[in-house]
Amino acid sequence: MTNTTKNNAFRRTQLNRRKFLTACAAGLMIPQLSALAGSVEKTDDGFFILKAKKSETKFFGDNGPTTQVWSYNNTNPGPIIKVKQGEKVKVRLVNELDQATSIHWHGIRIDNKMDGVSGLTQDAVKPGESFDYEFTAPDAGTYWYHTHNRSWEQLARGLYGLLIVEEPDKSDVREINLVIDDWRLDNAGKIDEKSMGEMHDWAHGGRLGNVLTLNGKQKPKIKLNAGERVRLRIVNVANSRIMELKLADHDPWIIAKDGHPITPRKLKKDDLILGPAQRIDLMLDATHKPGTQSPIHFVDQQQKYEIASFEYSQDQTVAPITSPPKALAITMPHANFKPLTAKIVPLVMIGGAMGSMEKAIVGGKTLDWKQLVKAKRVWAFNGIAGDLDKPLVKVNRGETVQIDITNDTAFPHAMHLHGTHFKVVARNNMSFNNGEWRDTELVYPNEKVSFAFLADNPGKWLFHCHMIEHQAGGMVTWIDVV
Ligand code: C2O
Ligand code: CU
Repeated sequence: MTNTTKNNAFRRTQLNRRKFLTACAAGLMIPQLSALAGSVEKTDDGFFILKAKKSETKFFGDNGPTTQVWSYNNTNPGPIIKVKQGEKVKVRLVNELDQATSIHWHGIRIDNKMDGVSGLTQDAVKPGESFDYEFTAPDAGTYWYHTHNRSWEQLARGLYGLLIVEEPDKSDVREINLVIDDWRLDNAGKIDEKSMGEMHDWAHGGRLGNVLTLNGKQKPKIKLNAGERVRLRIVNVANSRIMELKLADHDPWIIAKDGHPITPRKLKKDDLILGPAQRIDLMLDATHKPGTQSPIHFVDQQQKYEIASFEYSQDQTVAPITSPPKALAITMPHANFKPLTAKIVPLVMIGGAMGSMEKAIVGGKTLDWKQLVKAKRVWAFNGIAGDLDKPLVKVNRGETVQIDITNDTAFPHAMHLHGTHFKVVARNNMSFNNGEWRDTELVYPNEKVSFAFLADNPGKWLFHCHMIEHQAGGMVTWIDVV
């Protein structure tokens, strides 16, 4: 993909640069991620406790180096929170870090007070303090939760986990979760702290790592039984890396993107390009022979890197299923969606290395490029570099909104809207309809992309680039629904 190539051409670290890290870990079994109920304390008042704390983990197996991460409940990824659609989610965040933090429930149509954006919907939770999150999850799907305070540091250190909302009529197909992260480690296998917050990353493609993990392990093996159909829930939790994946020569069905159902169809190549925060749900038929192995690849500049493998058990179980999987039910109220009457909101992105930004507004003052670099605000939306004192736009509840984005930078951006899913209705001045609703979408250099959504939930909804260093560097605004 040329677009992915563009993203990665600016990398300063090569994924395969530190050979020893890739050498020491062939063949870990994929850790069974347990459901929340199994691994987390529940209080008398029904809250699951998520303790944000420092802990140690082994990315490279028991004999490999130990890496200190920040975690929820001592695991990377954090515990899976699993609820039924329509159920209450009750989580008590206990902050045992020495930095303030908060949790955002990415992709959920949520009560704005519970959205977890420090500085906009709540104050960050101070060290030693706690915060109760309580909300209903109205739509089934694959979501995730993550820190939303100093995310450029806290996400890079590991503060995230899966949030699975199950369909009421959930089938009994086996599920495999793949949480993919991109870490920048030093030669001792520790998180490279010296480069944390580095200006070069912020002005380029963000903090890109040199080690990829799946469910907190390097190169795990994923068990399959010949003939079975499994549901894969894949999440890209990296700070900034776009992940293009290849699932050997399996030919899965796609059933959802960003948690939102898609009429089942066979996977196309570009479906597996996941920007930061994007998710994909697949139904994969295990069509290979018993006892065989096949790799899962990460693809970068036409180069393939094995990041995991499917390992088939010895026995043939059942004949492969060939019929398409059942479509998942759509519960988001799209029926009210009237793109023709949309309120149009232009948003021009500028900044970054090789960009054309000469000045932008920070704290009400116009700064020139040199001053912006000093202030670490090197990206801007409509000339404003990350100020949250005013919204991008104020709209009335019930209005349809269309944001016309122009990417006038040399980098792709993974634009994420809080609190609802949107539809891409135009690309490069041509109307567009691929039937997908997303909460995060890639906008490539020189592209014009229009997002439309129904503003039916009052509150302050953040809209930002999910390449976290870009967000920190100014690519953030919000929409006021009143
Ligand atoms: Cu997944 Cu504002 O974040
Ligand atoms: Cu960006």
